[in-house]
Amino acid sequence: METRHNEINVPNEFFPLEFAALTIAFTLTLISYRYSKLQKEMHALTIKKNAEDYTRWKKITSDIPLPAAFVDLDAYEENLKKLVTVVANHNANNATTSEPQKTIRLATKSIRTPYLIKKALKMGAPLIQGLMCYSAEEAQFLWTHGIGNDFLIPYPIGDKFALSILHDMHVSGAKISLVVHSVDHLTKLSDTMHDVMTPFPVIIEVDTSIRFWDGYIHLGARRSPIHTLDQLRQILKVSKTFKNIQVIGAMVYESAVAGLRDNDPYAGFMMNSIAWIVRKASAAHTAKICADIPTIFAEEGVKLNLFNGGGTGSISTTVGNKGLTEVTFGSGLLDPALFVNQYSNLNTLGLKPAIYFAIPVCTTDKGYVTCFQGGYVASGNISKAKQPIVISPAGLNNLDSEGWGEATTPFAAPENIKLTSGDPVICQPAKSGEISEFFNTLNCFRFFKHPANTPENQVKNKNKKEDQQAIERIVKTYRGYGHRF
Ligand SMILES: Cc1ncc(COP(=O)(O)O)c(C=O)c1O
Repeated sequence: METRHNEINVPNEFFPLEFAALTIAFTLTLISYRYSKLQKEMHALTIKKNAEDYTRWKKITSDIPLPAAFVDLDAYEENLKKLVTVVANHNANNATTSEPQKTIRLATKSIRTPYLIKKALKMGAPLIQGLMCYSAEEAQFLWTHGIGNDFLIPYPIGDKFALSILHDMHVSGAKISLVVHSVDHLTKLSDTMHDVMTPFPVIIEVDTSIRFWDGYIHLGARRSPIHTLDQLRQILKVSKTFKNIQVIGAMVYESAVAGLRDNDPYAGFMMNSIAWIVRKASAAHTAKICADIPTIFAEEGVKLNLFNGGGTGSISTTVGNKGLTEVTFGSGLLDPALFVNQYSNLNTLGLKPAIYFAIPVCTTDKGYVTCFQGGYVASGNISKAKQPIVISPAGLNNLDSEGWGEATTPFAAPENIKLTSGDPVICQPAKSGEISEFFNTLNCFRFFKHPANTPENQVKNKNKKEDQQAIERIVKTYRGYGHRF
């Protein structure tokens, strides 16, 4: 009778090749495990580094009813300067070339607070010139409040009410343009503008995703259906047959660079490595598209007055793309949790978190602290990265089983963290703009660090106490003005 041993045919020879493969697989697994662990530790360290002393936060929040949202104005202004400098440096380095000097269009939906938008327009002048608005209603709101005078809506509109707002703004003299993707969009826009004296400006969005097999594989966000330069040529030809509208520009959004994190602490080694490769390939792909688009416009006899690209996550590559006349960013000014240490290309910029919220402890149990509210989770694919993170006291851990709740949010608390009801827990939201949908106001503060004790500084700061901190002003969000756009 044959033995089971023989059935499964166990090799009784030593194969160096198999041994080598096993060793490589084992080593790779080990490296990948170690890398993921290291990455999580680094992320925790960054959070810790960003976590200001809890007693400071207690002072900042002590006179404000919680839950409440907070903006660190020093960090906001510093981020603004850093991002503007990226564009300014690029312009300076290209001053003697034929490249157009780039301007900046601020993404207002990533800020959603008029005071902060005005501050960016003022401090970022003359480079920040235009606003990229979420919707026609948002552009109208800003315009009627005297904020900005050059609006671009980057998402096509088919809704007749929103189209009529564009019509009214255009007729009243506002500088406003709309992104379109198709003949359907051109038709509706042209019909709406039936009685205008000057044609309404139109921007064509060209898709920058990397596609194979007729889109079966699509790396990037699903935005514009204009995937090829031939398709761009076609729509430019068709656009000339429409009355009362005129194509004046193009837009590309590098979703596979701006929206793809390659240092995601939750993704692991393999996924981050793939994201890094996709980002590199996508940046090169977009650069080529950008360089080609002006030629297509010229060949079709359409003047390219405006060519927009951007997103904070891609700023370092977007700014170098030939042909673009302007770049857009918004989120980077507030540097929300999704951006902190999660984009390899942003690390050198050294942006600082500027947007926070504080929720009050409502109850405690042995090893646990539960806060009132907290469920300010960001949009997009549902993942852990869209949840807020605790900043201070560092060490509180959200529970995966419950997540961030509408009514209450529990945290596992190490023994050294002693909190009682009413104490604030400081968190950072995953995205920068959406948090303003939950709060009527943002409490803007500065941490004042006493400068070196020179005689000159003694006079200048004689009324300021060491490490004083103060709410400088409380400003209304769009929601505070009674709007959601
Ligand atoms: C077309 C376009 N450009 C730029 C941005 C702004 O990007 P961020 O706020 O990440 O800087 C957005 C936001 O989604 C966008 O849709």
